[in-house]
Amino acid sequence: MKLTTFLFFLGCAFALPTTNIDPIPRPTITNFTYFGAGCPSGTVSTALYAINSTTGSYQVYTYLDSFTPWAGPHFAIKDSRKICTVNLEVGIAQGWKVRTNNGGSDVKGYLMLLDEKVTGTWRANYSFASATTGSISSIAAVSFAGPFVGIFIKHADAEGQGVVSPCGGGTLNVEHQVRLSSAGSTYSGYIGPDPGPDELKWTVVSGVEVLRC
Ligand SMILES: *[C@@H]1O[C@H](CO)[C@@H](O)[C@H](O)[C@H]1NC(C)=O
Ligand SMILES: *[C@@H]1O[C@H](CO)[C@@H](O)[C@H](O)[C@H]1NC(C)=O
Ligand SMILES: *[C@@H]1O[C@H](CO)[C@@H](O)[C@H](O)[C@H]1NC(C)=O
Repeated sequence: MKLTTFLFFLGCAFALPTTNIDPIPRPTITNFTYFGAGCPSGTVSTALYAINSTTGSYQVYTYLDSFTPWAGPHFAIKDSRKICTVNLEVGIAQGWKVRTNNGGSDVKGYLMLLDEKVTGTWRANYSFASATTGSISSIAAVSFAGPFVGIFIKHADAEGQGVVSPCGGGTLNVEHQVRLSSAGSTYSGYIGPDPGPDELKWTVVSGVEVLRC
């Protein structure tokens, strides 16, 4: 009975003609393309999740299935650098725009840093084509040092206030990059079993906020 009463009042509250505040529209990703040595064809996917649609808070996930860098005596220099540029068509209703990377990004991935001489950095550089307000690009970055072998999850703070789309949305360009350096490493000890293909997948998560123009 209590629940019925509660629902009744809730219904009334929604029915009251006090909605001079428009609901915040949901953004969309209608298309994406990618290229680079860190993302052969068929290895990238994306998804948009609602965190709180009432406040216009979302997250964009980018899955990079072939992004793991390798460094050490047995690997070529080109294996130690992976770059992937992803272009996302982000749509939002007219009168609105989106901001991303304001709070930085989260990154999950696999690394094999065999000794303390193996170090690396990951970064993502976000920019909106033809953005007219705010900064041109926003970078999130983290650095690593060995010894470490396995899956990591890290939060990368943003430099600056994120990037803002044009009104109505636009093309979000994200350059993902990871580099390892193994200068001086001569490691030849225990490496462990080969990781499974799922362990090697990287995921990058960034907040998307819907703002009024
Ligand atoms: C997606 O974008 C690419 C590159 O801009 C374009 O060639 C392709 O036609 C687009 N696909 C759709 C379904 O819009
Ligand atoms: C969304 O945000 C509103 C306003 O801050 C809050 O009242 C509501 O509980 C939130 N919803 C969820 C699912 O977190
Ligand atoms: C980030 O991307 C923007 C737009 O492509 C570019 O102008 C800027 O130089 C890049 N920043 C870095 C540090 O690579």
